Amino acid sequence: MSTPPPAAPIDPLAVLKGLAALRRLTGTYPPGHPMIGQKLKEIGDVTAAHLQGSELLRIDVIRGDVFLDSVPTSSEGQANHQLLSQLTALGVDSIHITRGVELDEFLAVAEFLWQFSGSGDGVASQLAARNVRHITLGKLIPLDTRWRAQQWPDAPTVPLDPDYAESIHRAQQTFEDTAAGKPIDVVTVRDLVQLLIHKVARSNAALGQILAVKQYENLTYCHSVNVSVLSLMLGKQVGLDEATQAALVEAALLHDVGKTQIPLEIVKKAGALDKHERKIIESHTTLGAEILVQTSGLHPLTPTIALEHHRGPKGTGYPDLGNAIPHPMSQIVTVADIYEAITGARTYQAPTPPERACLILARLAGEKMNTALVKTFVNAITFFPLGSLVRTSRNELGLVIGTNRGEPLHPVIRLLDQLTYEPTERLNTATRDASGAYERHISQSLPVPEGLDVRGMLEAA
Ligand SMILES: [Fe+2]
Repeated sequence: MSTPPPAAPIDPLAVLKGLAALRRLTGTYPPGHPMIGQKLKEIGDVTAAHLQGSELLRIDVIRGDVFLDSVPTSSEGQANHQLLSQLTALGVDSIHITRGVELDEFLAVAEFLWQFSGSGDGVASQLAARNVRHITLGKLIPLDTRWRAQQWPDAPTVPLDPDYAESIHRAQQTFEDTAAGKPIDVVTVRDLVQLLIHKVARSNAALGQILAVKQYENLTYCHSVNVSVLSLMLGKQVGLDEATQAALVEAALLHDVGKTQIPLEIVKKAGALDKHERKIIESHTTLGAEILVQTSGLHPLTPTIALEHHRGPKGTGYPDLGNAIPHPMSQIVTVADIYEAITGARTYQAPTPPERACLILARLAGEKMNTALVKTFVNAITFFPLGSLVRTSRNELGLVIGTNRGEPLHPVIRLLDQLTYEPTERLNTATRDASGAYERHISQSLPVPEGLDVRGMLEAA
């Protein structure tokens, strides 16, 4: 039996143009108009051609370039530019279509886009309500494309919770020793795991600093400490017992240890990575697993988690291990790792605020991460606990004195004088402006200075 020849690649622009035209037609003509039917058929034919050879059609627009299934395609001309900016202005720069899609679903998407105001909230549920099951729309955040170089500090520059600062210091030493070719000191690792579990993860200030945006770029030790605490948070939520929690923290702490073997200029390179450099970066998983296998005294799962943490729940990602599904503990670390990476700064990416990061996690769930774990993680986040000290995007200093139901990222705060910490007015950070956007975000969590009357302010509230 012969296999059918591979289909010629379709032009993703034709699909985008078709959708944009259909959107206009549905806004202009009554339902059932022959022009709408004609346009629907055109879109249906193009997508059907692609879906014959593959389960999924992914069209992503990253800053004006159109990608078909992650491969860039040529898009030229001003007209295309206009079309693309029209779609991206709507918040639609990622369209995924799965096999089985019906023409009515395209129609429903076009009608939805006609009425759509551009706010990204609830798109999935609105499409579901219109019975669209095979098309998803999303806002794409470029994670892999490194065109923008910005220098960030290598570690936090704000005062840290003391235990958190201590754990970062110890992790730094462990990683520097490993980079210098020394074996991993298992006793130091064990102590660090205990510090993280019993002190850091129980400190509201530290948790706030780990969950908030991080204005520093660090690809090893700070990242590893943060991923450990976030993994632990998720591990507790899914009911791991204490011994397993400790194993999880150990593995999360060492998941990227392979990066100590990779030249820093590649790890931190600004600009596109070529294929060879990408392979080198990806090898941190296997290099890490090798180092950890050779280290006696670690939990047996630690090397496995280092090996698997860039693999999705369906066995995609790297390294290529066939269809093997990652261990559930690896899947936990993957969620924490991705959240930490998105909320941290990179030479090619400014840090993303937590609420946007959660949307991105939701977008990546299923493919890159276990959906149930993503849901649990997002639900578990208490971003700004009562009594924590925060700075807003308007550079105001405030103490969290209340929460807003359903708005975990926008607490009620008591503003404090920047110098004297004298409490001034009460402010609800969930307030939105006329366009519906939040007036301010919390941009930073800060350690509470000694002597600040937190309890008094909470009682007064
Ligand atoms: Fe990694």
